[in-house]
Amino acid sequence: MRLWPTLLIPFCMGLCGIAVCQENTSVAKPEITYNKDVAPLLQKHCVACHRPNDIAPMSLMTYDEVLPFARIMRETVVQRKMPPWHADPAFGEFSNDARLSDEEIAIIDAWVKNGTKRGEPETSSADPVLTQGWHIKPDVVLTVPEFLVSKTAQDDYEYIYVPTNFTEDKWIQAAEVLPGDRRVVHHATVSVIDQAEVAKHLERHAKTDEGEDQYHYRTGKVLHLRPDAPVIDDGCAAPDGGGVPGESSGYLNIVPAIYLPGHLAETRPPGYALRIPAGSYLQFQIHYSNHHGLDVKDRTSIGLVFAREPVQHEIGQYEIWNNMFLIPSNDDNHRVTSCFILPKDVIAVAYTAHMHFRGKNMLTKAIYPDGREEVLLYVPHYDFRWQETYFLKKQFLLPKGTKLMTIAYFDNSKNNFQNPDPSKAVRWGEPSDEEMMGFWLQFADPQMVAEKAALMQK
Ligand code: HEC
Repeated sequence: MRLWPTLLIPFCMGLCGIAVCQENTSVAKPEITYNKDVAPLLQKHCVACHRPNDIAPMSLMTYDEVLPFARIMRETVVQRKMPPWHADPAFGEFSNDARLSDEEIAIIDAWVKNGTKRGEPETSSADPVLTQGWHIKPDVVLTVPEFLVSKTAQDDYEYIYVPTNFTEDKWIQAAEVLPGDRRVVHHATVSVIDQAEVAKHLERHAKTDEGEDQYHYRTGKVLHLRPDAPVIDDGCAAPDGGGVPGESSGYLNIVPAIYLPGHLAETRPPGYALRIPAGSYLQFQIHYSNHHGLDVKDRTSIGLVFAREPVQHEIGQYEIWNNMFLIPSNDDNHRVTSCFILPKDVIAVAYTAHMHFRGKNMLTKAIYPDGREEVLLYVPHYDFRWQETYFLKKQFLLPKGTKLMTIAYFDNSKNNFQNPDPSKAVRWGEPSDEEMMGFWLQFADPQMVAEKAALMQK
């Protein structure tokens, strides 16, 4: 708390000209109170995480809950640490931009400085769906069978297949993965799989503790790059863009939703939806990490919201990687690139940057067929604990032949306080203490769904 005066001066100098200080001196202005001014703001921007049994450490739903945190809350919003948001606003406009406006920050600032008044009695409006853990209102919920996460499972990947039993194609507007037990579910990716593929996948995952291919090995079900695999840091200078030699750096995946640290429900823009074909299975890839010294039972679910209005564009996702890098020990600024050339016209819908604890920053740009370049996403201070998906306010066309170039920097030094071990050289691997370098583009097919259906019938 002793830090306050120094933190405050630059902020207040910035704001005095605009709102707060003038407001404070004006007697005519109504007083800022919790119930009138602050509660609606916290409802809108904070309680999605700050409520019982959610990812934040404390609930901020009521006056009594907020009061003990008022000063630290003021500090974190003034410093823009909360709500979390990691995309540089200079590039792209995002519909789920969580940042508070200057006016909203000024309200919290003034409320705390003027004695945290309660105001008129609260009219409680707890959302019944929110209190059940969801941030969306699912039409259907699919849940994995109970899975025992043993106390020794510190970095375990499980692949669990759940039939949708859908008898017709379903269009998914929004989806959310809800961990059964947040203490052990580190992340979970849910992909759509054709029924015929399930047996093949099960067979592949049954192979444990043996060589996967010439570049990889497994410990249990967890995959790692071999230490002696060729090193390709500059994927853009390599024939495969950073992918495993002979494989493209980018591949298609149909992902209704994913649970990652700091990741919220995915809601696609109106008219855009993801298709789950009749009879499909959902593959839950769940990364369990149990550090509780006790066996824990998990039942993770996905909630799906069906599209209400006619769907115009079908959603897909390219996951683009460098899978061959090597980050030397103690290197505090190691550069890795990946490149992928779009094989068809797509409409850009959302972006996700994915690295592990050593990820420092990531920038992705589009290099158009005419040579023009545009930065799509820049995450200047990557933080493993906050892996948002950034949904574009305005979708736009990325023509076939556009090169997507991603440049990431990693900090494998001791100055990176999240670094599990600076003395280790690091390669690609599924555990969090190894690394990944991925940029995911959620896109839509420019061809209208109805047009495509008409063509298929001809
Ligand atoms: C996406 C989820 C999410 C949202 C939205 C969110 N928080 Fe948080 N908040 C967290 C989590 C998780 C933590 C604990 C981890 C951390 O401190 O990084 C946290 C920590 C905090 C802390 C403690 C910081 C500290 O240093 O101890 C404060 C205060 C806080 N949040 C206030 C807010 C306020 C005020 C808002 C809205 C304006 C907000 N948060 C929005 C998830 C969220």
